[in-house]
Amino acid sequence: MNILAFESSCDETAVAVVRDGRQALSDAILSQADMHAIYGGVVPEIASRRHVEAIAALTDKALADAGVGKQDIDAVAVTYGPGLIGALLVGVNFAKSAAYALGKPLIPVHHLRGHIAANYIAFPDLEPPFLALCISGGNSMLVDVRGYTDMSIMGCTRDDAAGECFDKIARALGLPYPGGRPMQELAEGGDDAKYPLPRAKIAGCALDMSFSGLKTAAVNLVHNAQQKGEELDRSSLAASVAAAVSEELVPRAIAAAKQCGYRTLAAAGGVAANKRIRADLERACGENGIRLYLPPLPLCGDNGAMIGCQGYYEYLAGVRADMSLNAYANLEI
Ligand code: KG4
Repeated sequence: MNILAFESSCDETAVAVVRDGRQALSDAILSQADMHAIYGGVVPEIASRRHVEAIAALTDKALADAGVGKQDIDAVAVTYGPGLIGALLVGVNFAKSAAYALGKPLIPVHHLRGHIAANYIAFPDLEPPFLALCISGGNSMLVDVRGYTDMSIMGCTRDDAAGECFDKIARALGLPYPGGRPMQELAEGGDDAKYPLPRAKIAGCALDMSFSGLKTAAVNLVHNAQQKGEELDRSSLAASVAAAVSEELVPRAIAAAKQCGYRTLAAAGGVAANKRIRADLERACGENGIRLYLPPLPLCGDNGAMIGCQGYYEYLAGVRADMSLNAYANLEI
């Protein structure tokens, strides 16, 4: 079964063809990051316009790369939330038109379910149940993946996402957007204990997280140093931030897996590309006898293949949308 899949929730326009859920025949992605970089973050209106401009040509490319024609498509899948509403609407409306024109079923896909599903493409042996650590620019959560379409949140950030934390500290340091990767490069060789940054203490759910205090503390450090004309050890600050973010995420991911009784943990989302977090996860999972799945870097960020993959399992579960499908900025997993 070939699924034509669309992703446009933020600043990547992506179209893929996925066969039988696990095989990405193509994955055409156009990142707008350069366009938003001069503003230091994603400008929603620009994102929507760029999606409109790119989506038709990317669809042709995805079909050509896959070596299939429109007649070989069996269903259409699309991200319908959460994300930037204007950006999502472009993908949803294009997918609706495609499904209508081809006379094929339309499958709505949750963006974070898609991120989790990226692991199914990379690891053919991976099957639920497992614990997923979903860490991206807009979300940070621990998900109990009981089945391909049966999941619930064990804990999540109470404020900013981990990616937002990296991006905003990077901006204060004058690094380009998106800041996660440049922060990682800056952290090389830095002393991760030099700057004592705050660790959140959360009342209530022990698996919930917080990143806004850490973000503010690091940004204030940078601004204070600038105002006083003091030299900052930028590399050690970046390393200290990565250590603090990782400490917020990794012990909670292990605790959540244990709470669910799982011996399998999968990471997902753009921040799952982070070297420090990957290394800490590897060590912690090794110490706790947990099997770890870390998606290859191209599958960590937004892509269309992950939506086609999850779309397949939603299709098997009987999920369908009609032409009234809407997009949602916020959406329960
Ligand atoms: O999953 P994604 O591509 O888009 C969303 O769905 O949000 O994640 C983007 C986020 C950005 O905040 C970016 O800075 C972060 O992932 N990111 C990283 C790294 N690579 C990307 N954060 C930390 N370390 C990285 N190597």
